[in-house]
Amino acid sequence: MGLTRRLSRIVSLLALALSGAVLSGCGQSLKQTPFDPAGPVARAQLDLLKLSLWFAIGIGAFVTLALLFVVFRFREKKGDTSIPKQIHGSTKLEIAWTFIPIVILAIVGVPTVSTAFSTKAPKDPNALVVKVVGHQWWWEFQYPDLGIVTANELYIPAHKDVQILLTSDDVIHSFWVPKLAGKMDVIPGRTNKMWFNAEREEMYYGQCAELCGPSHANMRLRVHAVSQTNFDSWVAERKAGAKEPADSVARAGMDLFMGKSPSKANCITCHTVDGTKAQGKTGPNLTNIGSRSSLAAGIVENTDEYLRQWIRDPKSLKPGVTIMPMHPNLTDEELNAIVTYLRGLK
Ligand code: CUA
Repeated sequence: MGLTRRLSRIVSLLALALSGAVLSGCGQSLKQTPFDPAGPVARAQLDLLKLSLWFAIGIGAFVTLALLFVVFRFREKKGDTSIPKQIHGSTKLEIAWTFIPIVILAIVGVPTVSTAFSTKAPKDPNALVVKVVGHQWWWEFQYPDLGIVTANELYIPAHKDVQILLTSDDVIHSFWVPKLAGKMDVIPGRTNKMWFNAEREEMYYGQCAELCGPSHANMRLRVHAVSQTNFDSWVAERKAGAKEPADSVARAGMDLFMGKSPSKANCITCHTVDGTKAQGKTGPNLTNIGSRSSLAAGIVENTDEYLRQWIRDPKSLKPGVTIMPMHPNLTDEELNAIVTYLRGLK
């Protein structure tokens, strides 16, 4: 078998393996992918990505093939000491490889600039405003026009423009919900703006996309895009505040939560439960903790077991966490009571 033939066989095998690897990622329902856009911003950004990707693939393939062709066509042959034709200073070539990149850059550049402008601000002047505050390592969501604060799981109405105002309480984070929009930095002392419109009523996954400390990878979030009716009733429930628990175990848990035995637990110094005396602001607002699907900023599902583990030893779930203390002095019974109280906050 000739060398050229062997080489072309290797190249086609590599191409086959690569396309297999790429395509196998497409069929799956991935939680966090920009290739399944669910709104106008993510879609416009994906279109742009595809456009530049095709050019990049074309250029990459052309350069690779040209290189391989030259390497093999002009390789040194036995007994042949002649030098191939030298083309240094070819005006035609110089013009060609100046002009072609200009055309390609223009084709990619014009839609890039127009997309940057079209995705800058929501069209709807009555967009829902949500202020997102990044913390090490959780997300605070404030609805300034509704007077509601929640954490880690963002509720929005589907099919409505949402204006996101981003700022940070400590270090630089990055807010990223790939199916809704590209990432945007979350910087202390300034407000960055982005927006999206969720076209499907579903739960979207997101996460911090800027290295922000030991638990950067554990700074996740979920976005629940629900019907306007469901959103309105969610808002009404939030505004009504937490209900007093009827159950005696939950009541005992509430007392501990509110700092009845401060040496065991004193949750109200950091956490707010709307409608109670718990008004701490350092940690996440827990008013509807029982109805959230996840705990500790989206890293585990919301179960009694995980909530117990989180209260007892938060570091075991989220390395590096310092603000949420351990609770070694709680008896199992007391811990269960607090868990019962929190899980009942719907
Ligand atoms: Cu916050 Cu990474």
